[in-house]
Amino acid sequence: MISDIKESALQEKIPIIQDGGLLFLLGLIVENEYKEILELGTAVAYSAINMALLDDEIHIDTIEKDDRMYEQAVRNIEEQGLSDQIKVYHMPIEEFRTDKMYDLIFVDAAKAQYGKYLEQFIGNLKDDGKMVFDNMIFHGMIYETERIGSRNLRNLVKKIRLFRENMQNDERFDIMLFDNIGDGILLLSRRKDET
Ligand SMILES: C[S@@+](CC[C@H](N)C(=O)[O-])C[C@H]1O[C@@H](n2cnc3c(N)ncnc32)[C@H](O)[C@@H]1O
Repeated sequence: MISDIKESALQEKIPIIQDGGLLFLLGLIVENEYKEILELGTAVAYSAINMALLDDEIHIDTIEKDDRMYEQAVRNIEEQGLSDQIKVYHMPIEEFRTDKMYDLIFVDAAKAQYGKYLEQFIGNLKDDGKMVFDNMIFHGMIYETERIGSRNLRNLVKKIRLFRENMQNDERFDIMLFDNIGDGILLLSRRKDET
């Protein structure tokens, strides 16, 4: 059951989307009747399985580089009978290329790379599609960056802040930031010409 996947992920400290973020994502898919989804960062396929269970016409391509995560993800997908709907690509995101166009791109992998992922995949987003970025408040740490003891962690959180700022100033996109949903969600769409 999907609740067992969540339980064992939490026990093993595998990072999965928080309940609020998941509800937001599922609501967006239902409301817009999205069918073609790309996910960056599968982990054990908890979010992918939740999205696929919404409708059997939904197809998800999801990318995971870690061997152990990939194997567990494939097992979980098989056990849910969703192998026709979810394809896990076992590779670094940086190496994934496709001509396919997606309704929704859910970004949930290396937080320091969000700007790069955006440029890598924006060409695969349909005109009316949306991108969703998770962990935009990073456990609340973006509010107290200077108090973070570890230099690596501080640098990571600074990169997330910079990404937020860049997105707020990028005239190609309309964005909405939801700091109060899950671990913080950024919703992005292409800005339409005002003609
Ligand atoms: C937060 S977890 C994904 C959680 C999943 N979306 C969920 O909510 O169930 C992030 C995953 O991205 C993977 N990842 C990080 N950087 C990656 C990269 N460059 N290429 C492929 N996978 C990557 C990690 O191994 C990890 O399993």
